[in-house]
Amino acid sequence: MEIKLTQVQQWAEEAGRIALRYFNHVAAERKADRTLVSRADREVEAFLVGCIQETYPDHGVIGEEGTREAGGEWLWAIDPIDGTRAFLSGLPIWAISLGLLHDGLPVWGLLYLPITGDFYYTEDDGAFWNGQPIHCSSPKPWEASTLLCVPSNSHRRYDLSAFPGITRALGSTAVHIALVARGIAVGALTGHTHIWDVAGALPILEQAGGTVSYLSGQPFDPTALLDGNRAPEPILAAHPGVIERLRAMIRRGKGSSSGMRM
Ligand code: IPD
Ligand code: CA
Ligand code: CA
Repeated sequence: MEIKLTQVQQWAEEAGRIALRYFNHVAAERKADRTLVSRADREVEAFLVGCIQETYPDHGVIGEEGTREAGGEWLWAIDPIDGTRAFLSGLPIWAISLGLLHDGLPVWGLLYLPITGDFYYTEDDGAFWNGQPIHCSSPKPWEASTLLCVPSNSHRRYDLSAFPGITRALGSTAVHIALVARGIAVGALTGHTHIWDVAGALPILEQAGGTVSYLSGQPFDPTALLDGNRAPEPILAAHPGVIERLRAMIRRGKGSSSGMRM
């Protein structure tokens, strides 16, 4: 299956223009699961679903805001705005995420950050950021400035004191994983994600030489999330040469098994 990168980039740019019309001008709403949504999320999803269905009529689509279109072996998993809370707070890091799965496995992905103009994508067996090839950081000594991206509630859930660097929660799981692919972050710890949170970013990570597994060390199985349910545990993304070292530094804290599973 050949995906026309420039065409999907155009979809993402137009989706970004739709979202930007609402940025700082839209009310937050609560979904049944208490997470946030807005008119912008729904409108961007409807636009992207229309683009996909017109171009790839035999492909399925699953989207965070309710799209469930069955298809054959090819399935798009879209997150119209990954980082809705950041978007609704007027913060800059949120992304339009499109992932293509083949028989349930993410094989192609694109992320677009409308505020910064950054594109991350896979093409010809490589991962790219704005046209430049990107690679995950390989093992090297970690310093005081080494970055680990974490969920925004990590201070309640984990003891990260063994990690010698810094942590940041920028607002978007997809962007966190892309930063690992780009070698800016040494790792990304997620919450209990849905398939649409990670389907766009995982092929980018993989093509950049990174890997992903559940925090327990169990393999991450995307096919188990195709029903739209949350992952059973957090995910850790990193270079294969450092993922075990990182895992050992992430200790579950008191609040890790209770409260909202974000
Ligand atoms: C959320 C973001 C956030 C992460 C949550 C996700 P949404 O996605 O990626 O960074 O901590 O787990 O649900 O709701 O903004 O699309
Ligand atoms: Ca998301
Ligand atoms: Ca979303």
